[in-house]
Amino acid sequence: MIKAVRGTRDLLPPETGVWNFVEATVREVFRAYNFHEIRTPIFESTELFARGVGEETDIVSKEMYTWEDRGRAESDKGQSLTLRPENTAGVVRAYVEHKLGDRGLQKLYYIGPQFRRERPQKGRYRQFYQIGAEVIGPTAAGSESPARDAEVLTMLADLLDRLGVREWRLELNSVGCKDCRPRFNEALRRALTEPDENGVTLASQMCGDCQRRAVTNPLRVLDCKVPEDQPMIATLPRLSDYLDDGCRTHFAGVTAVLDALGIAYTRNERLVRGLDYYTRTAFEFTHGALGAQNAILGGGRYDGLSEAIGGPPAPGIGFAIGEDRLVMTLAESAAAAGYAAVAPVAYVAPLGAGMNAPAAKLVRELRAAGLVVDLGDETFKIKKSFEGAERVSAKYIVICGEREFAADAFNVKELATGEQVTVPRTELAGKLRR
Ligand code: HAM
Repeated sequence: MIKAVRGTRDLLPPETGVWNFVEATVREVFRAYNFHEIRTPIFESTELFARGVGEETDIVSKEMYTWEDRGRAESDKGQSLTLRPENTAGVVRAYVEHKLGDRGLQKLYYIGPQFRRERPQKGRYRQFYQIGAEVIGPTAAGSESPARDAEVLTMLADLLDRLGVREWRLELNSVGCKDCRPRFNEALRRALTEPDENGVTLASQMCGDCQRRAVTNPLRVLDCKVPEDQPMIATLPRLSDYLDDGCRTHFAGVTAVLDALGIAYTRNERLVRGLDYYTRTAFEFTHGALGAQNAILGGGRYDGLSEAIGGPPAPGIGFAIGEDRLVMTLAESAAAAGYAAVAPVAYVAPLGAGMNAPAAKLVRELRAAGLVVDLGDETFKIKKSFEGAERVSAKYIVICGEREFAADAFNVKELATGEQVTVPRTELAGKLRR
């Protein structure tokens, strides 16, 4: 037996109906905010993620599906390619490649699979789906304004509301910019690696990951979840004490809009995110029902990303929702269940040899009239046809044998009540619709 690869899974009906409900709602809400869809390739050159997401991140250093291409053409040979672990770098590459900045501020969204070789567990897969959006453009188009950050956060609050997701929490932070963050990083590094009077460093008493990060990427120490490390992390310098005036004012601009709109948030000074491109605003929405992997979405500002991959200055902000996790929170949603459970109104049962062809013609007419109709087979005995109708939860069964086609009138039976009427072909669609 060949099974789906570890960390991947099949999405089956009726659950796929919930996914469709989510995606249809997303398209509607994002449209109201004037976002347009972009679709970028599933694989890109490895260098894009190394330069965009950052060599030191877990994603790039440990989790990417990377291979060397072996094309026939000289130009293909030996090129290192990677399945996209996230979509922001691809969107910004497309922005640069197609000079989208010439068209002003871009508000783009995407829905699609991403790939990370993480340890699979509830809510964490190796192929997972993201619904993301990015606002990016030249500074003159207002891309740097805190109004953009607030608009993106408002859109998320509206989307979750429309989907019926209630128990979310918005955690918000500013991670500073290329001017002030290095100063904070340096202060962190010193606090972690300078020996105390007994010659012992803080980092040496922490977990292996923190010991490594203290040197390579001290900011990420703040993200550590190991309980024993928490008291030591609490003694580290605070990011908010190092933000420069520009970053402070920007953050205040974001929260002023959220406050005015009544969108609740918590400032979490330790929220630093796992990708290197972030500047200023960083955020996550968490959900109580999700367990350990409780981040339903994450995002933030990335004012230097375009330049990091060789493009023009183009400040941006965006987010990605983990669609797998979002769907998990909708398990109880009546709206989603209703969308998923569209049963056929009728099951057409051809009765007797030679009836498949005229029955096919009849169901085609009914479907063209906008009805959801399913179809049995001329070899089925009447009992089997009824079972077929019940299995698909049809409301009516329409029995059609030689006699019915000759009279052009059909026997329509409502399965729940057993009520039965004969309906002429011309009135059939109308009767079923009622
Ligand atoms: P991220 O925090 O790496 O950000 O991922 C965003 C969300 O994707 C997470 O909050 C989570 O819900 C979901 N996710 C991530 N990894 C997995 C996994 N292995 N299995 C299931 N779900 C997962 C980004 O990807 C950024 N590109 C977001 C962004 C867009 N920032 C600015 N623009």
